[in-house]
Amino acid sequence: MPDATMRAVRLDRAGGPEVLEIATVPVPEPGPGQVRIRHHAIGLNFIDIYQRDGLYPLTYPTGLGLEAAGVVEAVGEGVTRFAVGDRIAYANGPPGAYAEAHVVHQDRAVRLPGDIAFETAAAAMLKGMTAEYLVQRVFHVKQGDAILVHAAAGGVGLILCQWAQSLGATVIGTVGSEAKAELARSHGCDHVILYDREDVAAQVREITAGEGVAVAYDSVGAATLEASLSSLHRRGMFVTYGNASGPVPPLEPLRLSRGGSLFMTRPTLFDYVATPEELDASAQALFAVIRSGQVKIEIGQTFALDQVRQAHEALAGRKTVGSTLLAP
Ligand SMILES: NC(=O)c1ccc[n+]([C@@H]2O[C@H](COP(=O)([O-])OP(=O)(O)OC[C@H]3O[C@@H](n4cnc5c(N)ncnc54)[C@H](OP(=O)(O)O)[C@@H]3O)[C@@H](O)[C@H]2O)c1
Repeated sequence: MPDATMRAVRLDRAGGPEVLEIATVPVPEPGPGQVRIRHHAIGLNFIDIYQRDGLYPLTYPTGLGLEAAGVVEAVGEGVTRFAVGDRIAYANGPPGAYAEAHVVHQDRAVRLPGDIAFETAAAAMLKGMTAEYLVQRVFHVKQGDAILVHAAAGGVGLILCQWAQSLGATVIGTVGSEAKAELARSHGCDHVILYDREDVAAQVREITAGEGVAVAYDSVGAATLEASLSSLHRRGMFVTYGNASGPVPPLEPLRLSRGGSLFMTRPTLFDYVATPEELDASAQALFAVIRSGQVKIEIGQTFALDQVRQAHEALAGRKTVGSTLLAP
């Protein structure tokens, strides 16, 4: 029998890291179609910050965190996908992963192969499936493409750069420090630009002999919008998929025309793993590139669940590299 209570992060309002409280709460019971998973590792993601600070509103009181890996310890009525004892992971909520256990719908979880550690899964599921849909489905990265990836030493960044390079792309990454540049170079970046000090678009033109890149993957948002648009070649694709520096301001369609008949999309993982079939396919593709060694999962730092405020400060303060875990 599980403990009747567990430790979990709770919020009763939006705000800074100080709104994150560790509470003792009842262990949740799975409803119809749901499983309860006992967490072995929890993934920290930038979206958790948007949800904590209210950019992406939640209904309070609430838990936080969308991603974890562990073992099924109870199943609700009608569950067919998993049984008690299965190793599983999930990456698309509902919020509440920052806890010793959580209840998720069976359709939102995937079975973990025996060779994928819980820590690897919690470090890679959300970020790695994001990389999967970005390089394979939003834009089909192929041999010979030059591409631009902002925040290249971050959680998504390191996975995305390695994956794109393994597909034959020339990867140009941007980072905030020399130490991050080193890490990005050893994880798929052919060229690294320090975007706080250098003119990104000018550097990109120089690296690509004036051509520009086929696609700009931009998770930084407001601060990098102009650099991304100005780095693209004719009919290039601007993929704005995050807002680490703030949301992208409204954009005139004519700006896309002037940039060379550019395309723009604002995708979110949840629309690319909307069905169990899409979720399984994306996860399997991720496990395959991890298994083959094409993508190494870099766990840059691990915090105890009790240190969740420090973990948020580090991620929001650009102090982390690669993936960040919370240990339940
Ligand atoms: N749309 C989707 O489907 C989807 C899915 C997953 C993640 N995302 C987005 O992808 C991004 C990366 O997520 P992640 O969890 O892997 O985080 P992360 O990249 O590990 O952390 C964010 C990084 O952004 C850079 N950054 C630049 N300006 C910043 C600023 N003003 N404040 C904070 N960070 C800044 C920092 O790297 P430097 O120090 O090198 O600048 C920082 O380390 C986030 O924007 C996230 O929302 C989107």
